[in-house]
Amino acid sequence: MNNLNLIEKIEKLKKKRSAVILAHNYQLPEVQDIADFVGDSLELAQISAKTGAKTVILCGVCFMAETAAIINPKKKILLPDLTAGCPMADMIDVKKVRELKQQYPEAAVVCYVNSTAEVKAESDICCTSSNAQKVVESLKDYKQIIFVPDKYLGHFLSLSSDKEFILANGYCPTHAKISPKLIDELKVKYKNAEVLVHGECTPEVKEKADKILSTGKMCNYVKNSSKRDFIIGTEIEMLYRLRKENPKKNLIQASPLAICPDMKKNNLEKILDVLENMKNEVKVDEKVRLKARKCINRMLLVK
Ligand code: 13P
Ligand code: SF4
Repeated sequence: MNNLNLIEKIEKLKKKRSAVILAHNYQLPEVQDIADFVGDSLELAQISAKTGAKTVILCGVCFMAETAAIINPKKKILLPDLTAGCPMADMIDVKKVRELKQQYPEAAVVCYVNSTAEVKAESDICCTSSNAQKVVESLKDYKQIIFVPDKYLGHFLSLSSDKEFILANGYCPTHAKISPKLIDELKVKYKNAEVLVHGECTPEVKEKADKILSTGKMCNYVKNSSKRDFIIGTEIEMLYRLRKENPKKNLIQASPLAICPDMKKNNLEKILDVLENMKNEVKVDEKVRLKARKCINRMLLVK
């Protein structure tokens, strides 16, 4: 079936099923184009809660669908490819979080949203790259923070905080491929460019950046800036949305190697398949869900 036929079928079935399609900024262009909303992980969670649709097709990776399932127990959350995971989320488990809690009983546990529902259930508060700084600032009564699983985001947060940070050892293999040397070379070539990088990049890359932003904040920043040239240090598909929304700006990818294979697993065929067969529902064990919900709710209350 060609893309036009697939799109037509998806649009029809979407109405019939009262479904909404949400896509992360790293999804394939064809998936971003068919989505009702494209955004960062915080925005996808917020929209999943606000939508009146009974079925949400979450085009992203497993933790994003799980987060939507935790917040919306009455909605069906379908992930087009159930094998779309996040290697960083799998770098920490409940056992490790419990060990850290025993070692640092006075600390608050902050878990990055790129984590399993079980890890969220063991944590005090969740954060995304968009609100991480505010979440940490909100923990006024704590002197120590256990931050899991992203050591690079955790390290970045520790730089502007007077709290002691205990970091787990996780990282994003995709963002780790962005090298500071390449950014230096691009800065020589594009002298007036601003460098925007994601919070998951290494400290060495962040040192070269003008701004450290979530994918959603990158979109707003580029749109509202009077500058023309931007070097973008994050997953390659981010450039698709940025170029679409800013056709007159010069958007330069910091590394062609920054590809998240899991984000590429969802496609039009799989979206049609889940709509046709109402399959691939992501569910979370009720006990875990209730505890994880508290952790996410605390984050959603931080303004
Ligand atoms: P954002 O919250 O910035 O969309 O990041 C999610 C993610 O997985 C980045 O690798
Ligand atoms: Fe996980 Fe990195 Fe892929 Fe984001 S880009 S989903 S952090 S592996």
